[in-house]
Amino acid sequence: MNLKANTILITGGATGIGFAIAQQLTERGNCVIICGRNEKALHKAQTEVPSLVTRVCDITDAESRRSMLEWLKANHPNLNILFNNAGVQYHRDFNNDAASESLDQEVAINLTAPIHLIIELLPMLKLQEHAAIINISSGLAFSPMADVPVYCATKAAIHSFTLSLRHQLKSTGIRVVEIAPPIVDTGLGGSTRSEGASNRMMVTPKEFAMETMAQLEAGQNEVLVGVSVDTRRLGEALFERMNNRP
Ligand SMILES: NC(=O)c1ccc[n+]([C@@H]2O[C@H](COP(=O)([O-])OP(=O)(O)OC[C@H]3O[C@@H](n4cnc5c(N)ncnc54)[C@H](OP(=O)(O)O)[C@@H]3O)[C@@H](O)[C@H]2O)c1
Repeated sequence: MNLKANTILITGGATGIGFAIAQQLTERGNCVIICGRNEKALHKAQTEVPSLVTRVCDITDAESRRSMLEWLKANHPNLNILFNNAGVQYHRDFNNDAASESLDQEVAINLTAPIHLIIELLPMLKLQEHAAIINISSGLAFSPMADVPVYCATKAAIHSFTLSLRHQLKSTGIRVVEIAPPIVDTGLGGSTRSEGASNRMMVTPKEFAMETMAQLEAGQNEVLVGVSVDTRRLGEALFERMNNRP
C-alpha cells in the first residue's frame, strides 16, 4: 500500500495507537484527519503535530457522523482511507457486577459505529483511485481474555466482518485491511493496561505504529504485530494459558 499523499480519517486519532499512527502517516506526507469526542484531546494532539486536521465526532451518534460526513465532502473530497481505530474496553465480572450500563456503548463504539461509518463513507471511497478501509481488531479477536469478554467478542466480530467485507469489495478495488495490535501501552481500559499484562509482551504506541507502517507498505492485508502473531495462529488453543496465569 502506498502510504504517501493520501487523505486519511483516523477515528480516535488523538490518543494512543491512533495518534502514533497519525504521526507516522503525517511524516510520510499524508493529509491526516483525526476525530474523537474530546475536543481538548484533539487540540493537544494538534499542538504536537500541527498539520493534523481535527474534527469532534462521536462515532456512535448518527447525527454527529452525518455532520462529519457533510464536512468531509465539502472540505476533504479526496478522502481515500478510513482508519476505524476508536475503541473502548471494559472489565466485566459476571459473578459480581457485569456493568450493564456501558454494554451498549462498548458494542456500539467497537463494532456497529465502524460499520455505520463504512456504509456512509463507501460512496466517497468508491470515487477514489486508491481507496482503503482499515479496521483495528486485536490479538484478542482470536483468543479472548475472559475479564474483558464483551470487548473480545466485538473484536472477534470485527475480524469476521473484515473478512466478509474484503470478499464483497474485491471487485471495487477498495482494499480492506485488518490490524490486530498486541498489548500496546495506551490508556485503553483505564489504568489496567500496564498492570495486568506482562511487560515482556507490551510495546509502545510508536513501536507498534512503525511496525504497522512497514507491514502496510509491504502490502499485508492482515497486520499482525508481536503476540498477535501467536493468537492468530493458535487461536483458542491459547485460551487456558492466557486466562490461568499465576
Ligand atoms: N492498547 C492495546 O493494547 C490494544 C490492543 C489491541 C487493540 N487495540 C485497539 O486499538 C484501538 C485504539 O486503542 P488505544 O489502545 O489507542 O486506546 P485509547 O488511547 O483509549 O484510544 C481510543 C480512542 O478512541 C476514541 N473514542 C472512544 N469512543 C469514541 C467515540 N464514541 N467516538 C469517537 N472516538 C471515540 C477516544 O477518544 P475520545 O474518548 O476523545 O472520544 C480515544 O482517542 C482500539 O480499537 C483498541 O481496541 C488496543
